[in-house]
Amino acid sequence: MSRKILVLPGDGVGPEIIAEAVKVIDALKIGHGLDVELDEAAIGGAGYDAAGQPLPEATLAKAREADAILLGAVGGPQYDTLPRELRPERGLLAIRKELGLFANLRPALLYPELAEASTLKREVVEGLDIMIVRELTGGIYFGEPRGVHTCEDGEREGFNTLVYRESEVERIARAAFETAMKRGKRLCSVDKANVLEVSEFWREIVVRVSGDYPEVELSHMYVDNAAMQLVRAPKQFDVMVTTNMFGDILSDAASMLTGSIGMLPSASLNASGQGMYEPIHGSAPDIAGRGMANPLATILSASMLLRHSLGEAVLADRIDAAVGSVLGQGLRTADIAREGEAVASTAEMGAAVVAAL
Ligand code: IPM
Ligand code: MG
Repeated sequence: MSRKILVLPGDGVGPEIIAEAVKVIDALKIGHGLDVELDEAAIGGAGYDAAGQPLPEATLAKAREADAILLGAVGGPQYDTLPRELRPERGLLAIRKELGLFANLRPALLYPELAEASTLKREVVEGLDIMIVRELTGGIYFGEPRGVHTCEDGEREGFNTLVYRESEVERIARAAFETAMKRGKRLCSVDKANVLEVSEFWREIVVRVSGDYPEVELSHMYVDNAAMQLVRAPKQFDVMVTTNMFGDILSDAASMLTGSIGMLPSASLNASGQGMYEPIHGSAPDIAGRGMANPLATILSASMLLRHSLGEAVLADRIDAAVGSVLGQGLRTADIAREGEAVASTAEMGAAVVAAL
């Protein structure tokens, strides 16, 4: 029975980069026996335009049915003035929450060909291979109460709540230890336990779970230090596990170590292994529609999809190797090109990956 992939192009550069990833999947269907069925639905601003909601009912229904979801990006300036609950980002947060996609895997892997594209010195980033495991359905992103209200003295006050249940910390810790077991067996838990009670609590639970993974070397780091260490000596890390917001911030920082945020894929998994896959970059409205965006993060997200949700490791390896090969051939989109280097368009990059498969 063929498996179902739901494609959610979204906004901005989303449709352009998704088109290239779909070409790669189609090529694997035709040439390599991949048995999948693709369907498409609207999310984000596109969902609002089509159905008045950033996560239309029909999209959520299709998402629940799918074996895996491939998402482009959401957001655009034309939606910034909508009420908060109608903004594109709400669609993304809602689908993560509705599907229970609590474990967000964000690899920061430096392709050797791109060592010069990083803003950091070659020796600092060469050989870099980090996995950030970000909690994705809890913490301050979802905590209640939240809002803006007027205090008794008439002054307004904004507030959010950073809250974690024991079970939420435990399951993300387990996901991180499992990830570490498949890699270098070193896990660094990032928190702010010197200030926040919820972080002390987080640390206590991570330590408890570590009892089940004696082979994994566990360390702890405060988030401010972790940000510094990521740009000072990033190769000290194997797997990092952290809360929703810290993970959001640290994964953007980690992406620049690899040359460009346009290179990094991600997987968001739930307890039953269903997953949504997306580049970690945003919708880049400033370059949307100009054929400039780097499709590699999305193509690599498709690779993660095949690996984690469809059990197609051989085909995933094939995509990863094809990406390595086009970089080896010297193909560069604008974000990873050095001064004076020829620049490939989004479609040229996608076509080159298909050719290299
Ligand atoms: C990400 C993005 C999202 C987040 C935004 C678009 C809501 O920055 O996936 O990292 O903050 O999670
Ligand atoms: Mg982010």
